[in-house]
Amino acid sequence: MKKELKFVVNGQTYDLWIEPKTVLVQVLRDELGLKGTKRSCDSGSCCACTVLLNGKAVKSCSILALQANGKEILTVEGLANGTQLHPIQEAFLDNWAFQCGFCTSGQMMAAKGLLDENPDPAREEIQLAMDGHLCRCTGYNMINEAIQDAAKRLQTQEEQGGAK
Ligand code: FES
Ligand code: FES
Repeated sequence: MKKELKFVVNGQTYDLWIEPKTVLVQVLRDELGLKGTKRSCDSGSCCACTVLLNGKAVKSCSILALQANGKEILTVEGLANGTQLHPIQEAFLDNWAFQCGFCTSGQMMAAKGLLDENPDPAREEIQLAMDGHLCRCTGYNMINEAIQDAAKRLQTQEEQGGAK
């Protein structure tokens, strides 16, 4: 029997009826059409499906959508401000931190969760936060550098009184 799911995704409120066993990534991709969240291993092993749930990075293939009831989700589609890319997106671009891009939305969402909590992370803290995010193309060095760069860009933005 379907259950009601009311939640906020990227600032927009949704009220859906879903099967209780539906995992969050299914709802995001198949019900809401937010295909930026990738589905890869489907077993909690790659982190490609990472989104923020009330500000914390979660693997959306590994939690039931109903666990998001009454909560807020941020996906990669919610990062940019209109046509203005988020500093994390700009830093990933400028540091060549992706190739095929399949892992990138999950990487960027984890980076956002980290930098919201810890605006000036040490390299080891970045590595710890990104542990488990598999990338088959780029090599992790450039991803770590992109996140350090994003931290600097966000700090500059903050000093200039800019938006998040
Ligand atoms: S698809 Fe969710 S962890 Fe791999
Ligand atoms: S950029 Fe291809 S898997 Fe990471």
